[in-house]
Amino acid sequence: MTLPIYTYGQPVLRKVAQDIPLDYPDLKRLIADMFETMYKSDGVGLAAPQIGKAIRLIVITLDPLREDFPEYADFNRAYINPHILEYDDSETELLEEGCLSLPGIHEPVRRPKRVRASWVDEDLQPHEEWIDGYLARVFQHEVDHLEGKVFTDRIAPLRKQLVKNKLNALQRGRVSASYRVKPAR
Ligand code: NI
Repeated sequence: MTLPIYTYGQPVLRKVAQDIPLDYPDLKRLIADMFETMYKSDGVGLAAPQIGKAIRLIVITLDPLREDFPEYADFNRAYINPHILEYDDSETELLEEGCLSLPGIHEPVRRPKRVRASWVDEDLQPHEEWIDGYLARVFQHEVDHLEGKVFTDRIAPLRKQLVKNKLNALQRGRVSASYRVKPAR
């Protein structure tokens, strides 16, 4: 089932999301719905607050990048209770980001190229690993959502000034998107 995506200004996007028990009711169904919602909206990542739930659950697909990164072919993963344990600040990168909750806004964001993270996978196996490459970028964006942050919180002050009107419009519930949304109002 495709779920509506909560857009900027919805209070749930500012909440710190909580870990879930591994026997969370209908977890498999919820993960399947989040994958479907992400695919239908052409996103590469989706965090549970974006579908209105303040819980630590994200899905990521890197398959759309397979032309440039063959290693990401068929990469579709769910991360339960993800946490970033360590940021490797020795190397950062400025890359353009967008977000299904902020349609129409694309801005460069500086982030570390590598993070150490923990999570539980869909087979309920725990992981603690260093993540790098494009996955590190998407993973950091999605975990930000779980901390109540959105990517425009991290853009340069001048750039933020430039998107202020667009953010205000979203905040007032004026949203134009090609997928189903639940705007703020
Ligand atoms: Ni996002």
